[in-house]
Parts: sequence; structure tokens; C-alpha cells
Amino acid sequence: MGSSTIYMHVMFSTLVLILSLSSSTSASLKVGFYKTSCPSAEAIVRKAVNKAVSLNPGMAGGLIRMHFHDCFVRGCDSSVLLESTPGNPAERDHPANYPSLRGFEVIEETKAQLEASCPNTVSCADIVAFAARDSATKLGGINYNVPSGRRDGRISIKDEVVGNLPPPTFNADQLITIFAQKGLSLDEMVTLSGAHSIGASHCSSFSNRLYSFNATHPQDPSMDPKFVTLLKTKCPSKSSNADSIDPTVALDASTPNRLDNKYYKEVKNNRGLLTSDQTLLSNGLTRQKVLTNAKYGSSWTIKFAKAMVHMGSIQVLTGSEGEIRKHCGVVNSM
Ligand code: HEM
Ligand SMILES: *[C@@H]1O[C@H](CO)[C@@H](O)[C@H](O)[C@H]1NC(C)=O
Repeated sequence: MGSSTIYMHVMFSTLVLILSLSSSTSASLKVGFYKTSCPSAEAIVRKAVNKAVSLNPGMAGGLIRMHFHDCFVRGCDSSVLLESTPGNPAERDHPANYPSLRGFEVIEETKAQLEASCPNTVSCADIVAFAARDSATKLGGINYNVPSGRRDGRISIKDEVVGNLPPPTFNADQLITIFAQKGLSLDEMVTLSGAHSIGASHCSSFSNRLYSFNATHPQDPSMDPKFVTLLKTKCPSKSSNADSIDPTVALDASTPNRLDNKYYKEVKNNRGLLTSDQTLLSNGLTRQKVLTNAKYGSSWTIKFAKAMVHMGSIQVLTGSEGEIRKHCGVVNSM
């Protein structure tokens, strides 16, 4: 092969790659998908989310996290909402989701309202995507268009959570890899971690950093010792408490109900709550991104909105794939 032939070949492969990437991600989703079939769909979701978040700001974190947990396991097909059935434990009963994942009732109630206005039309997967956006708007003033037209899956398997959702103990290299498996870049991984600017974590997700880090260091040396002391008052050690007692702590101590870039300032000051937060500063590949996001809040906001849309396109079902569930917790009967 002559060098120009090789060049053409590379060009062609690149073109094919670009085409196949776009068709396997967001090609069939479109902004305003329900414009004629259910014109008030997005307004109904927004109203329900605003109401729920006004009553409990923590719900916003729950709904944003729900979209993440949906998209990373079997794509954004609302598999995370399906209840376990006899012999089939579902995603939502995996420890990564149960008991900490919240917002199921908000989605189910919104679905009931949508079924009343436009039966069999709006997917649960789209409701989750809209609700995550509306939560970001409510607590961060972050607004963006959500391409829609997702369809609901019929399968949810508890064991599929492992290897698809990152545990809080992951280091930056592991996070980069698991996000890359979903088609998300290193920058998007760091950007999306900024969602930990709102919401809460159970002590069990990080108490190893306070009491049992490793053989020589009981405390994680990458955490501000004053922060360790404070957290110990909120999270009693396992040995002195029943397993059932698992308090929660704000992920972003400075502005727990404001979706902003303060999270990155906390991480910069060694006050990231989870190992997966603090590792972003320790790792040479991600450190500068943390510092940049800490400094430039408005560019982080723009990147966050874009990354949420990209995350929302992971392995979506469209067209006649899947179904439009009648109730988000159960598949339709055939
Ligand atoms: C980078 C890898 C990530 C890891 C390891 C991780 C892990 C966790 C853990 C362990 C919690 C606390 C659960 C608990 O104990 O109650 C949590 C909470 C949360 N996560 Fe993440 N997460 C990651 C990325 C993301 C992403 C990409 C988003 C959304 C874009 C997100 C949104 C949230 C939110 C909003 C909360 C608070 C939930 C609430 O208050 O109910 N996380 N995450
Ligand atoms: C414990 O962690 C510290 C800090 O990361 C590290 O320097 C040390 O080598 C670790 N010790 C063991 C036994 O793993």
C-alpha cells in the first residue's frame, strides 16, 4: 500500500468510527421529542420536581444520582427503577442503590400524572433524564435542553451493577477507565464528579478513611486531619455501633444544597468526602482539572450541562426498541 492509500484508509476508518459513535449514542434522541405527542410532558416533570425539591432539597441529589446509576448499567433505559421479582433481584436492590438511592416515589408519581395526561407516551427513562436536569436547574440554576425519545428496558439484573458503577473506593485511574467504558472522557468524569456538590453520603461509604485506612495509617493521610476529627463526631466507629446505624453527611460541606463548583474547592483543600473525590486531586492526570474547575465556576457549569447530555445518551433504546412502561417499577405485561 502506498502512503496515500494508508492515509485514505485511516481517514475512512475515522469517518466510520465517527458515524458509528454518533448512531450508537444520541442520533435518535431529539430535543422536544414529545412536542406533539405530549406537549406538557416536560412541564409536568418540572413541576413535580420543583415541588419535591422544595419539600426536601436532598431529593435533587437523589434524582441526579438516579440518572447516573440508570445510564451506567444497561444504558439510560430506567432499568434502575424496576423492582425485583421472585427469582430476579434487580439493580435497585444492589448495595450501590439500596438503601441510599432516593427519588423513586417522585418518578413514580410523575409517571402517574403523565399517564393521566398522555397515556403510553412518555418513557420512565426520559422522566429520569428530565428530572435530573430540573434538579440541576432548581439547585444550581443550571439549565439545558434534554434530548429525549428514550424507551424503557425490560431487564434489570442486580449483579450487573458490579463492574459498571464505580464504588467510592476507586482511585482516579480506575474512575477514568470505568467512565471510558461508557464513552465518557477523563474531563467529563472530573466534571460530572462535581454533582457531589449537592446531596449526602452515608458514613459507610467513607468510614474506612476515618478508622481503618491501612495497616500503618488508621486515617487517610490525604484527608485534612481537622475534617477527619469533625467527621468522626458525625460517624461513630463501626465497633461501637450497631451496623444498622449509618448516619449521613453532606458531600460538599460548604454549600450542600447548591450545585456549584465549591465541591472542587473542598477537594482542593483536602476535604473531599469520598476516596473517589479526593483521588482527583492526588492523581497527576486529573489534578489540574480539579484546580481549573475550582477557579472557573461558569465554565464548569457549561461543561457539566454538556456532560449530563452526553451521559444521558449512553446505550439508549429508541424507536421501537423496549417499551413505554405504564408503571416505572414494573415491566408491562405482554
Ligand atoms: C466518579 C465516580 C462516582 C462515585 C464513586 C460515586 C459514589 C457515590 C457515593 C458512594 C455516594 C453516597 C451514597 C451514600 O452512601 O448514600 C454518592 C452520592 C451522590 N452521587 Fe455519586 N459517585 C460518582 C459519580 C457521580 C456522578 C457522575 C453523579 C451524577 C452526575 C453523581 C451524583 C451523586 C449525587 C447527587 C449524590 C448524592 C445523592 C443523595 O443525596 O441522595 N455521582 N456517589
Ligand atoms: C498506607 O497508606 C500510606 C499513605 O497512602 C502509604 O504511604 C503506606 O505505604 C500505606 N501502608 C500500607 C501498609 O499499605
